Amino acid sequence: MKILIIGGSGVIGTKIRNILQKDKVELFSTYMKHKLDSKNDFFLDIREKDKVEKLFLKIQPEIIIHTSAITNIDLCEDDKKLADSVNIKGTENIIKLSEKLNSKLIFISTSFVFDGKQSSYNETDLTNPTTYYGKTKEVCEKKIIDSKLDHLILRTDQPYCWIEPWQHTNSVLRIINTLKVKKNHKEIIDWYNSPTYVPDFVQITQKLIDKNKSGIYHVVGSEYISRFEWAEKICENFDLDQNLLIPIKSDELRLSAKRVNVNLSNKKIFNELGIKMMGINDGMKAMIKEKMF
Ligand SMILES: NC(=O)c1ccc[n+]([C@@H]2O[C@H](COP(=O)([O-])OP(=O)(O)OC[C@H]3O[C@@H](n4cnc5c(N)ncnc54)[C@H](OP(=O)(O)O)[C@@H]3O)[C@@H](O)[C@H]2O)c1
Repeated sequence: MKILIIGGSGVIGTKIRNILQKDKVELFSTYMKHKLDSKNDFFLDIREKDKVEKLFLKIQPEIIIHTSAITNIDLCEDDKKLADSVNIKGTENIIKLSEKLNSKLIFISTSFVFDGKQSSYNETDLTNPTTYYGKTKEVCEKKIIDSKLDHLILRTDQPYCWIEPWQHTNSVLRIINTLKVKKNHKEIIDWYNSPTYVPDFVQITQKLIDKNKSGIYHVVGSEYISRFEWAEKICENFDLDQNLLIPIKSDELRLSAKRVNVNLSNKKIFNELGIKMMGINDGMKAMIKEKMF
């Protein structure tokens, strides 16, 4: 089976790439600014429809895993043209070419498609994004659903894992890197998330592919927790000084995009696959174990 990862140089793309490489699949990846250098890696800017077409026709993938996006939420709020061109137009190009080849499309989406007014969300709840980033993702979800392509839409939240030197950081690594040099770290008390250990996300993606599942899934960790409580657990797991954590409220940060608290339920994953996604301590223990080998 031929699988093409669009955005193989990103955080989630890299982990999908590393884990699927061990499977019996023929794997291809794309990158943009951060060059990957195996013979199956290709430069691609998803905004260039003719280049997307050329690459898709050359590879003829049965499955396309689309992870590329402008993922910086405040940048999307401040530069809507950029967000439109990559997140929406780029995805439209991928949808059109997936239709041409009749490939299955796997799209990585986000908790930010919801408005946070409900105490928890399942896959059938109505979307209502409050940020521009969330709007771009909602538009893509709808276009994929309307396309009649065989698809998976995987919504996730606060992915964390070890990263490559060029990749954006995450809450776990930010706290480790600040506290290990004995600096204070300001952590937010009024943001809540379901932190997701990326290899666990990839394991579920693999299972959904193997079982030929379609539709929307919430692929998130099994605990919904404030950033501050999460930071305390990071300190416990990585043996860091909790006294260096300073609690702050999010409005002190004066960010462009107003975040909402969205609790994604992962019950559908448990009911259909019989797998309970990792909680925070299990995810961080797995991270520590990864470094030991
Ligand atoms: N990070 C989160 O908190 C989060 C939460 C929920 C959902 N998601 C979603 O999960 C997916 C992956 O997130 P991530 O954090 O792994 O992303 P990431 O690390 O920021 O990686 C983004 C990827 O997109 C590529 N890319 C950017 N612009 C492109 C363009 N114009 N054409 C082609 N490729 C382009 C990048 O390539 P280069 O680096 O080579 O330029 C990189 O491979 C995204 O769709 C994101 O919306 C992320």
